Formats: sequence, structure tokens, C-alpha cells
Amino acid sequence: MPGIVIVGAQWGDEGKGKATDQLADRVDYTVRYSGGNNAGHTLVVDGQTYALHLLPSGILNAGTPVIGNGVVIDLDVLFEELDGLGAVGVDTSKLIVSANAHIIAPYHKVLDKVTERFLGKRRIGTTGRGIGPAYSDKVNRLGIRVQDLLDESILRQKVAASLEQKNQVLVKVYNRPAIDPDEVADGLMGHAERLRPMIADVARVLNDALDDQKVVLFEGAQAHHLDIDHGTYPYVTSSSPIAAGACIGSGVSPRRVDRVIGIVKAYTTRVGEGPFPTELLNDDGERLRADGHEFGTTTGRPRRCGWFDAPLVEAATRINGFTDLFVTKLDVLTGWKTIPVCVAYEVNGKRTTHVPMTQTEFHHATPVYEEMDGWAEDISGCREFGDLPAAAQAYVRRLEDLVGARVSGIGVGAEREQTVVVHDLL
Ligand code: IMP
Repeated sequence: MPGIVIVGAQWGDEGKGKATDQLADRVDYTVRYSGGNNAGHTLVVDGQTYALHLLPSGILNAGTPVIGNGVVIDLDVLFEELDGLGAVGVDTSKLIVSANAHIIAPYHKVLDKVTERFLGKRRIGTTGRGIGPAYSDKVNRLGIRVQDLLDESILRQKVAASLEQKNQVLVKVYNRPAIDPDEVADGLMGHAERLRPMIADVARVLNDALDDQKVVLFEGAQAHHLDIDHGTYPYVTSSSPIAAGACIGSGVSPRRVDRVIGIVKAYTTRVGEGPFPTELLNDDGERLRADGHEFGTTTGRPRRCGWFDAPLVEAATRINGFTDLFVTKLDVLTGWKTIPVCVAYEVNGKRTTHVPMTQTEFHHATPVYEEMDGWAEDISGCREFGDLPAAAQAYVRRLEDLVGARVSGIGVGAEREQTVVVHDLL
């Protein structure tokens, strides 16, 4: 039975939570496999809004929520989110956390902020949650893993080793006070007892579940173009949100992934720095931001807004192998007389329908637009493709043609049921 991966196809905030939530009633396990509490899933259920940063959005549903080894975990945030959901009556007791997942320690957050400040106008625009420094330590083999909380003496040694060089850098380069390793270790150990029953061999659990014909949903955070390898480096996150990351970040074989669903916003947004060819720095951009409530769930920053960029999503389709697309926020485009869609770029006088090979070229890519007819009808009550106005149908069909994958779902409003189902996602 299926392993299904959900991946954002642009620069994040595509509305993955809504798609995940659509499926989650029929899913046995919902797995976060990359990133940390830099993510933001906004879920609206029965008029109540939930903002989750670390927990899988499927935590609201009946299956087992899972945090895989590819995730970096801020334990304060983990328990805050669990307490917050507990307070509104959500049962979170089934959550399991990989023993191999890495921990975001307080010094990672300090380093994230000071290095961004140090970079000045070359900053990445990170969420400031310590994500990059935690992944750097992982790759440097100086990370603290969840399982280290089960062995206090090892934990203390590892924290001390990790801080040895960092304290030199904090004091001598950044002119900041040194951090006391014992204080850090005490803080982490303070969470150990509560965490202990959640710790699991996630790879084994998931492989057994797939052997038993269970449905496993791998829920991407961030998005394709923020991927450390395939995104707009260096303006990316420090992990692998792409579909292949689901295997690395949870311990299942690529042979077990049956379906890859790309989530695309009907237009484009981005937070943080980095190239964005279709960005609108005018009243049109303001209008998209206001109509789409485009402010970051995690940092509250206004999102940069622009038209749909087909070459961008086509690249994501190729690399992730999307079997389906889920278009979100189509309702936000209601009321425009015409809607431009970027079908190609001009780069150094040449036209291309692909994301250019080099970053320099991408920075110089000028969008080539095709004007699609807009629609004025309220589409928030549409539930079938045929209910949509002809111009909205044509818009969706054009995106399919340009991107090369079929559209299986369309979001027409924030509520869970405000979705047009074209093909079942399971
Ligand atoms: P970091 O993940 O905090 O290191 O930030 C790196 C880049 O990824 C910045 O441009 C962030 O704004 C962006 N980013 C990280 N998480 C998200 C997300 O969930 N949605 C959108 N952008 C994100």
C-alpha cells in the first residue's frame, strides 16, 4: 500500500497542511522528514485556526504522527506545541520521534542570529530558529541526537565538545558571551523524561507499517526551491525538502514511494532573500498579499508576492517526479480582469522555458508572460471542477500543460472542505 510524499513546489507556504489534512483521515502514519520549527502549517478546522511549526499537521487526525530522523527538533517548541494542542483537547499521545533526529540546542539559535547579522546585506533571511547551525553540526559530526538524552554522560560530553570551538567563535569573532555547556545540558536533560516514551526506531516502525499495507504520508516542510541541493542556493534552507528527502529523512527505500504530490500556490510567494523572477514590487503585489493574507506563519514577515512561474514549477515536477499537483488558493485570484502566467524567461536575450543552469543567469531571468482571462464569480463554494467558471478551468488546465503534471485537487478557501477534488489523492 502507498507511501505518499507531499512536497511544496515553489518557495514554501503553498498550503501543504490543507492537502495533508484532506488525506489524513485515511492515513495511518503522517511523517515529517526534514526541517524543524522553521515550517508553518496553518490549519483551519471547524473555524478554529491551528498554527504548527514542528509537529506534522496530521497530528489532528486519527493516525500516528511521526518525526523522522531528518528533522531537527527544538524540544521547548515540541512540548509547547503538544501542550497547546492538549489544551484544546487534541490527543497527541501517539506521537513518535526518531532516536536519530538531531536537537536544536540554544547555541544554534544564538549562532543563527549572530551569523545573519554578520552577513549584513548578504544575509539569507533565515527564520532565526537555529536550523542552519543545527544541520551544520549534524554534517560536522558535532550534533546532539534525540538518543543522546537517554545517556546523560554522553550528552554532557557531546555538548561540551560542540561548544568548545563555538565559544571561541562567539567570544572572539562575534563579541558575545560564552555559553555554559552544563547549563545547556541541564536544560536538555530537563526534557529527557517526557521525551523518553516517544523515542522510537522510526525506520523500523515505518517499514513494518508499509509491509502491513498501512498508508504512510510523508509531509514535506519548506519546498523544492528551498532545498539545499536543488534550490536557489545559498538562499535555501539547510535540509532536503524534496521527495527524495522523505527516504533519507525517515529511513524508507525510494521503492516504497508510490505517489508524489506537488503543492502549488496559484501564484507565487517567497519569504527571505533570494531570486524571484515574477515578484511584483507594485500595487498588484500588495493586492495579492492582502487578498492571500501572505504573512509568514512562523515569523510574521510579509511574504514577497508574484505571478505563477511555470518554469519554476516545471523544474520541481521533474526533480520530484510529481504524479499529481494540488493547486492552492485559486480563490485569491478571483476578481482580476486578466492574470499573467510566466511561461518562459528571457535570459541574456535568449528565451528559455527552463530554470537556467546557473544562479547568475537566474538572477537575470526576466519573465515572459501570457495573459489569461480572469473571472469575477465567487469560487469558494465550488466542489467539482465543472463548478468552476470557464476562465478558472482554463487557468488550471494551462498550468497543467505548462508544468507537465495533472491537477488532482484545487483549494478554493481556507476551510478544510473548500476543495475541488479532481482525482482522489490516495
Ligand atoms: P532557515 O530554514 O530558517 O535556515 O531559513 C532559510 C530560508 O528558508 C529563508 O529564506 C527562510 O525564509 C526560508 N524558509 C524556511 N522555512 C520556510 C517555510 O516554511 N516557508 C517559507 N520559507 C521558509
